[in-house]
Amino acid sequence: MAQNGVLNADIAKGQINKNIYGHFSEHLGRCIYEGIWVGEDSPIPNTNGIRNDVVEALKRIRIPVLRWPGGCFADEYHWKDGIGKRENRKRMINTHWGGVVENNHFGTHEFMELCAQLGCEPYINGNVGSGTVQEMAEWVEYLTFGGESLMSALRAENGRQEPWSVAYFGVGNENWGCGGNMRPEYYADLYRRYQTYVRNYGDNRIHRIACGPNAGDYNWMDVLMREAARFMDSITLHYYTVPGNWAQKGAATGFNEQEWFVTMEKALHMEELVARHSAIMDKYDPEKRVGLIVDEWGTWFDVEPGTNPGFLYQQNSLRDALVAGLTLNIFNRHSDRVRMANIAQTVNVLQAVILTEGEKMVLTPTYHVFDMYKVHQDAELLDLNLSSGTYSAFGRGIPEVSASASRDANGRIHISLCNLNHASSSSVSIDLRGLQTSTPAISGSTLTSDALDAHNTFDQPERIAPQPFHAFKLEGSRLELELPSKSVTVIELA
Ligand code: AHR
Repeated sequence: MAQNGVLNADIAKGQINKNIYGHFSEHLGRCIYEGIWVGEDSPIPNTNGIRNDVVEALKRIRIPVLRWPGGCFADEYHWKDGIGKRENRKRMINTHWGGVVENNHFGTHEFMELCAQLGCEPYINGNVGSGTVQEMAEWVEYLTFGGESLMSALRAENGRQEPWSVAYFGVGNENWGCGGNMRPEYYADLYRRYQTYVRNYGDNRIHRIACGPNAGDYNWMDVLMREAARFMDSITLHYYTVPGNWAQKGAATGFNEQEWFVTMEKALHMEELVARHSAIMDKYDPEKRVGLIVDEWGTWFDVEPGTNPGFLYQQNSLRDALVAGLTLNIFNRHSDRVRMANIAQTVNVLQAVILTEGEKMVLTPTYHVFDMYKVHQDAELLDLNLSSGTYSAFGRGIPEVSASASRDANGRIHISLCNLNHASSSSVSIDLRGLQTSTPAISGSTLTSDALDAHNTFDQPERIAPQPFHAFKLEGSRLELELPSKSVTVIELA
């Protein structure tokens, strides 16, 4: 299928916030425990209890922001259980996720240490569902107050004299569901109340984040924006790509071509969600002061056979890479409103970028997409119009190619392109207008494989990884590309 497009390199459409490339790690399954935290006495190489291999890998993709401690866990989490001497910390049941014992060894200090090692911003999600206003207020005081107070004294007693800086604070999670089953009118009032006590201490400025809708719940967005927009800096959106239904989601590997197609179709639904929620936000906030934060997104499949159903452990294949690539293109293109996104979840849970098994670690195809796309972080979005052909299968049709383009601080242009078609390559012709040179140096890399479910394992950790891409030529001002079937490609024009 042939696709034609125009890249207007002289039309910049605003900065792509690097936080779109953010991550989410919850106390769920083996994400925090084993995936990140192994403890200081572990034989797995670690720094202050945090595994070195995972930190190094996340630094390579320039992780900008990390959300914690949940998720549903956030609205059952009482932060004071996770401070002080580890051996004295409260043991509790993680009722949401597998009914296992949570020993609270990873708490506020450990999370802030993790963010320091990663060089990323912390995004802390507070508890509205089962927590009090006082508890939330004291957490913010404990984290960020530098003067004399009960909470700053407690922090110092626990080994941290100086306050931390915390830019992002979420006031509840999924309060329409696991966070309290609330109606939007009720949550809007609670949000207004709780956020009042999320104080700015000293120089620390907190970006207050309200709990937004589940997928296509446009009423929730409308009520929240109408009742509480002036009290928030951002509002969230959650949407997961589930090829089947919640009872039978479908397997992460070993799926057929139809499941591939449906997964692409459902992942593309993010475009409509972001556009329609943004339109509601425009009604109440035409200046676009309030950001949309998609702080949970990604694929959700059946767990790997034989694993704890509450741990949400799934393999990650080329199909996940396509979902990541097309979704990040959507966020880039909507970066006037989408200011942050957090893929669920960093390690060993759902669409993870990293899988671990004991001391072993493997980078997933999704990791490689984040690596390839990191060039878009904080770059200027460029005007790219691509009239995509149709990927038709099983009596339905979806756009075959997804793309976005940006210019980085050094003037290099990057175009990221996904060919969603499982069977055919795609010819793309882009008219390059407004370039500073007619002979740019062009290079590229691509992620693809012959199998739909190609994935990396602990025995074959490099089965699928990006390769140099050479299937392009420049003819006059036209860049001609031949994208392999089921591929994610990033082109650089320097
Ligand atoms: O990411 C897994 C869960 O999905 C989160 O805890 C919750 O917020 C969502 O329903």
